Amino acid sequence: DTPETDIIEQIRSLKSELGDKVLILGHHYQREEVFAFADVTGDSLKLAQKAAETSAPYIIFCGVHFMAETADILTGDDQAVILPDLAAGCSMADMADDEQVNRCWRELSEVINPDECVTPVTYINSTASLKAFCGEHGGIVCTSGNARRILEWSWGNREKILFFPDQHLGENTALAMGIPDAEMIIWDPALPLGGNTPEAIEKAKLILWKGFCSVHQLFKPEHSDTMRKNHPGIEILAHPECSREVCETADFVGSTEMIIRHVSEAPSGTSFAIATELNLVNRLRLQFPDKPVWFLSPMVCMCSTMFRTDPQHLCAALTSIRDGDITHQITVPAQQKRWAKLSLERMLNLG
Ligand code: 13P
Ligand code: SF4
Repeated sequence: DTPETDIIEQIRSLKSELGDKVLILGHHYQREEVFAFADVTGDSLKLAQKAAETSAPYIIFCGVHFMAETADILTGDDQAVILPDLAAGCSMADMADDEQVNRCWRELSEVINPDECVTPVTYINSTASLKAFCGEHGGIVCTSGNARRILEWSWGNREKILFFPDQHLGENTALAMGIPDAEMIIWDPALPLGGNTPEAIEKAKLILWKGFCSVHQLFKPEHSDTMRKNHPGIEILAHPECSREVCETADFVGSTEMIIRHVSEAPSGTSFAIATELNLVNRLRLQFPDKPVWFLSPMVCMCSTMFRTDPQHLCAALTSIRDGDITHQITVPAQQKRWAKLSLERMLNLG
């Protein structure tokens, strides 16, 4: 046996030994060798819902840090959430920190009363402390699978939204809802007032944090032009973390779970070019051999932190549970958990 097949065998036997004690959650961007062992696979929304439902004492989150934090917030104190590789972070989540968001809120207070007229909305790709900030300030969490509903809820409560950390998800969702450019501003945390005038802040309905996903920003509108030229009739699907210019070239924009559903429900023979992470696109290609699937970009757009979780890390996580010596547990401090849970539950209660 090669060392690789040995590890796979070990994971198999540890999984069957531990049985219902462990639930393995796997995001769609995980590499195949890890994804194959997930008990539940899904996008951020579905995995958060599963974490909230499970009573398994151990949850291994094959994803990135903010997802494991979310699972810890939504599970009980007697449940442990493990992130197999602690270095699996998200560069987008790192683009907004506590200090910057608190400063933004203070600066907004110089112009308007944010606690009265701004709903803070954080994309789930953010730290637990920012979810707590939203909980404390009447705000909410969203994912790429429910962003529209969350924006509707938020505008139903207060006239403005501060959306962080992903500019593109906020912008693409608002555009699809018919919000004009004139009602959106970008907040650059490096500049005073985010680089805006007081008048622009007063007028804005949507304040978009200047953050992005380093993977999805690699897709360009010219990739769509080339695809359409070379493959007439092809359908272009894009994740809303892609830029507005890319989403405008797409036939369908949706979260990973929505993209999968879209491909699975399409008639046989439909061909697709997809603008999202490589592991998901490769899996779709194998899963639907009767529907040719292309990667939209000629470059490799892969999430290197999602890729960090390999079978060795998964095996080590399972071994630590069997031996009663857990490592890599993610624990959100109690005070943060309380407020973060509120903003997550506001989201989950919307269905
Ligand atoms: P979804 O899982 O919500 O589609 O988001 C993709 C992503 O970038 C996860 O980090
Ligand atoms: Fe973060 Fe982008 Fe990776 Fe998702 S794909 S985890 S947003 S860096």
